[in-house]
Amino acid sequence: MRIQNYPRPVVAVLLRREILINLQKQINQSWIHYLVEANQVVNNTLYFFSIGDVNLAAKTIKGYYWHQRRQKFVQQDFPLPDVLYVRSGFNKRYTKTYRNLCQEVRKKKGHVITHYTFNKWRLYQVLSQNPVLKKYLPATRTVEQADDIAKMLQKYKTVYLKTHIGRKGESVLRVRTMPDGSYQCSNFRNGQLDIKIVPDFQTLIMEIRNFFQHKKYLIQEGIQLLQFENRPVDLRAEVQYDGDGKVDILGISARLGRPLSPITTHGDACKFEDFFLNYLGYTREQLEKLRADVYVFLTTVYDYLQKNYGRYAEIGIDFAIDPNHHLWFIEANSRSTKVSLQKAYGKAALYKNSKNILNYANYLYKRPKRSGKVVAP
Ligand SMILES: Nc1ncnc2c1ncn2[C@@H]1O[C@H](COP(=O)(O)OP(=O)(O)O)[C@@H](O)[C@H]1O
Ligand SMILES: [Mg+2]
Repeated sequence: MRIQNYPRPVVAVLLRREILINLQKQINQSWIHYLVEANQVVNNTLYFFSIGDVNLAAKTIKGYYWHQRRQKFVQQDFPLPDVLYVRSGFNKRYTKTYRNLCQEVRKKKGHVITHYTFNKWRLYQVLSQNPVLKKYLPATRTVEQADDIAKMLQKYKTVYLKTHIGRKGESVLRVRTMPDGSYQCSNFRNGQLDIKIVPDFQTLIMEIRNFFQHKKYLIQEGIQLLQFENRPVDLRAEVQYDGDGKVDILGISARLGRPLSPITTHGDACKFEDFFLNYLGYTREQLEKLRADVYVFLTTVYDYLQKNYGRYAEIGIDFAIDPNHHLWFIEANSRSTKVSLQKAYGKAALYKNSKNILNYANYLYKRPKRSGKVVAP
């Protein structure tokens, strides 16, 4: 094997096997395409691989890179990276390989970015340790027994139940107490809004158990989401570090769910300023005041997450504003698909997102080495 003189930093992107197979077949995923395109300007060494292609003994990885002249992905042996960008999970049987790989990267004073996926319950526990962030969190507890649900329903008329780990709004159930003592349960799954009424607490518990099956889930105070023409509204921010290691809030999208849906996912998205100026009739001054508050909130969350979980090149933060202008944290996504960002801000934002990641890798590589220890969650 020939290890060439690679431009540094060497950035490796860990992908799921299926995505890599698509690369082999030259089926290009759009976000990969943006990374490749941005790298033509940034000029790092950039390759893609899946965990089964790591050879720890030889300290090499069989990866794919974009061959500019041939206009296709080509396979080659690469050295272990200076920056490992983790974009996908992998089969449990590779946990040890993954651990050893991270260890090797750190041994050569490299960096692992975008490490763990977030568990919603753990996130709540971590963020609630911070006195500033605590005030943005809806009351939350994990459900061990029916009594946990009963207690929350005594306090809050509307609650949200969610699996500890979940995405796309698929494992979110809203429960509302009705004036006659019955309960309304609603969820949005597979493009389908499902709303039903159950007569009493016993039936509610059965309904909830049926919904979550064996999965662990939490219960949370319902945030009063803004409504526009019966559609719930919340916000998604894509937050990153740039090439100077500064926080860059790439775009904040207002997400409008389907009418009567408990969640805003799978609807439309528009720019933050368009929503508050044009839909809600904010003045410029009101908008700027809100924007300043939102920036402080997002920056605090992003920096605090890095302190507790390690480095993230990007995090998608879900949050809401209630009718009293109070900001609420909903969740953080380590591997955002950036659907709303693209809907609201177009392709230029996705390109900038990729460029930031590569520039941030550069920043990490070039800055003086320090030995800081991050405690894994
Ligand atoms: N406590 C809550 N109060 C009001 N709405 C909520 C609450 N939790 C979740 N939602 C709604 O459900 C959506 C999905 O919940 P989220 O926690 O982001 O899970 P997922 O990982 O499935 O995206 C949110 O974007 C929001 O619209
Ligand atoms: Mg979400």
